[in-house]
Amino acid sequence: MTDRAEADTVAFEIVDGVAWVRFNRPEKRNCMSPKLNRRMMEVLDALEFDPAVGVLVLTGEGTSWTAGMDLKEYFRDTEALGLKGSRGAQRESYGWWRRLRWYQKPTIAMVNGWCFGGGYGPLFACDLAFAAEDAQFGLSEINWGILPGGGAAKVATELTSFRRAMYHAMMGENIDGKTAVEWGFVNEALPLDQLKTRVNEVAQVLLKKNPVALKATKDSIRRVREMTYDNAEDYLIRAQEAANSYDNEGRKEGIKQFIDDKSYKPGLGAYDT
Ligand code: ACO
Repeated sequence: MTDRAEADTVAFEIVDGVAWVRFNRPEKRNCMSPKLNRRMMEVLDALEFDPAVGVLVLTGEGTSWTAGMDLKEYFRDTEALGLKGSRGAQRESYGWWRRLRWYQKPTIAMVNGWCFGGGYGPLFACDLAFAAEDAQFGLSEINWGILPGGGAAKVATELTSFRRAMYHAMMGENIDGKTAVEWGFVNEALPLDQLKTRVNEVAQVLLKKNPVALKATKDSIRRVREMTYDNAEDYLIRAQEAANSYDNEGRKEGIKQFIDDKSYKPGLGAYDT
């Protein structure tokens, strides 16, 4: 096919509170080009505060989640423009990954197939991750002569052990979805034909939680990883106080239903919204 229009590099639909967003260059195994990176930022922007969206799922059209950065359009073509070209392309890709890391709504990576290199950025950016058992994860950078940049080396060390990260990055061998669970890359691996049902099940649970508390919770889990215990304790007090003062009457309702109405137990599920 002729080159896909920028607007067509990302597809999405909203169903029952869930935005299903897809890398949409299946003919190029969904590798990330500057066009795709720009379009993804626009889509994330449009969905972030859309009241119809409570959870965002990031998946891929066809056989791939994403085959990492586009070796031609992201590397070769932008490098030909000099430093300005490279830095511009980096800003566009790192930009949407960062946006996703701190997204207002809970996010789930639904890894349906190949996930390489630069794909580790959005993988880590999503709060939860579910993979097909046959999905393949690889830091293939070493196989074509670069280091795992764009955050990929950091993601590997964040998600798995030092020895595994080192082997993974140096050997350029892929792991499948089941091994990705064992290594901590994803929460669960399922047969491909059960993947969407399971992800939707998780999304529907998240949709019933207090959204202010969810945003504060996901940010807290990311932030405290880099803090001392005392700093974390302090941060969490401030984060909860900020959440209390911002549009969070639901928290009081949660206490009321447990303490006064005795209609639910927070240890066993969410309050009735
Ligand atoms: N960059 C540019 N083009 C790509 C990429 C990529 N990352 N991945 C796939 N494509 C293109 C292929 O060149 C091919 O294009 P063509 O039809 O015009 O020839 C098309 O997508 C289909 O790819 P195939 O290789 O034919 O698909 P196949 O299903 O046989 O293999 C696989 C899939 C294993 C993902 C293979 O395409 C591949 O190895 N891709 C590169 C993966 C990679 O190493 N990515 C870079 C990681 S490092 C980083 O992101 C910084």
